Amino acid sequence: MTVQEGPRSADIAASIERRWAVVSIIIVVMVTMLAVIAGLHQATMPQPRVEITDPSRLHLSGEFIESNLGSVLGPDGSVTVRAIGQQYSFTPACILVPAQTPILLRAASADVVHGILIQGTNINTMLVPGYVSEQFMRFEKTGDYLMPCQEFCSFGHEGMWGKVRVIDKVEFAARAKDGGRLSCVGE
Ligand code: CUA
Repeated sequence: MTVQEGPRSADIAASIERRWAVVSIIIVVMVTMLAVIAGLHQATMPQPRVEITDPSRLHLSGEFIESNLGSVLGPDGSVTVRAIGQQYSFTPACILVPAQTPILLRAASADVVHGILIQGTNINTMLVPGYVSEQFMRFEKTGDYLMPCQEFCSFGHEGMWGKVRVIDKVEFAARAKDGGRLSCVGE
């Protein structure tokens, strides 16, 4: 039996190092290819539906004028809520919705990026100027929920709070029968 000598172990070490160098190069090439393929896929496939708005003209015409903000009961019994966020408040500041009803929230920002988070639920969306944010929601129980702005939007951010009030379905329907835009501002 012979004892291995220096040059032989150096050769073994060199071959192991080469093998790991090849493995790491393969990993880098694979990650690069993944990024390229994902980028090409995103650039060439149709995008999910995107709706745009002009934040500087939100208050002048169209869906997000002040008189159209709030909750409205649709003919199919579902409710659509339209709201805007601006430094440093939501309009309406108190959103009124019925319990046990499918609700579609449509919201936009009039200035910078804001966020809508309804505490105690998984409802959480960003309001990005220039785009309409949509969020489906449903509340099983009546009650009040806090709705803080969850994106830093400058020095008044921590004071930007709204509220969601969930009321009984029948009561909501009675209040909505005239077709007006409902909110709980001032209640
Ligand atoms: Cu609006 Cu933070």
